[in-house]
Amino acid sequence: MGKRFILLLTLLTLVLVLGMLAVAGISAPQEAKTDKIAKEKCLGCHGAYDKLREKTKGYKAASGETVTPHQYVPHADAQDIPECTECHTPHVIPLTDKSTVVKPKDLGFCFQSGCHHMQNLQNCHTCHG
Ligand code: HEC
Ligand code: HEC
Ligand code: HEC
Repeated sequence: MGKRFILLLTLLTLVLVLGMLAVAGISAPQEAKTDKIAKEKCLGCHGAYDKLREKTKGYKAASGETVTPHQYVPHADAQDIPECTECHTPHVIPLTDKSTVVKPKDLGFCFQSGCHHMQNLQNCHTCHG
């Protein structure tokens, strides 16, 4: 009798602890790195990145230059994909009305932080020797 009761108690405790661990495991990491997840989440539906690059290669920037806005940064190695939210406002999910998607106005992110500071995509050497 006593043995069975202890067994039952042990099982119940185990279930409780496992349940708590599961809740902690699901919620904690997501909050810790929202940014990282966002990029991967977008690409889960809009990837692969190289496909997106191909699809948008006819984009015309405000400067008149035709280029895909979807670059690797730095450009030299095809590795670092910038956060989509540097330019995009996330849309609701699931998306029922495509007309509600706010599209980026231009390539603001590319013009920031001392990069394409003349708001065009000319090679730096054309002006800087
Ligand atoms: C669960 C899947 C899903 C996720 C996650 C998602 N999208 Fe979308 N998105 C869609 C669907 C479906 C459409 C409308 C259908 C289409 O692409 O033609 C759409 C449309 C768009 C459009 C408009 C496309 C056009 O042709 O006008 C943009 C821009 C876009 N999403 C960007 C993003 C960005 C940036 C993120 C992440 C912050 C994101 N999406 C996350 C599914 C998703
Ligand atoms: C440097 C700014 C920038 C970044 C970063 C960026 N985008 Fe875009 N994206 C744009 C611009 C600009 C357009 C074209 C908008 C238009 O058609 O007017 C676009 C268009 C799109 C479209 C619509 C494509 C179509 O068929 O017309 C999708 C989907 C999209 N982006 C997804 C993403 C995802 C996913 C990421 C992150 C991996 C991302 N973008 C990162 C600037 C950016
Ligand atoms: C259309 C011409 C043009 C292009 C293209 C250009 N620049 Fe410049 N840049 C200038 C001029 C003019 C100045 C000096 C005036 C100023 O400070 O804004 C300058 C200044 C700078 C400075 C500050 C230098 C200092 O001594 O203070 C940096 C850094 C710089 N550019 C980086 C870049 C990079 C990186 C690129 C390429 C991604 C680039 N520039 C493309 C014209 C250009």
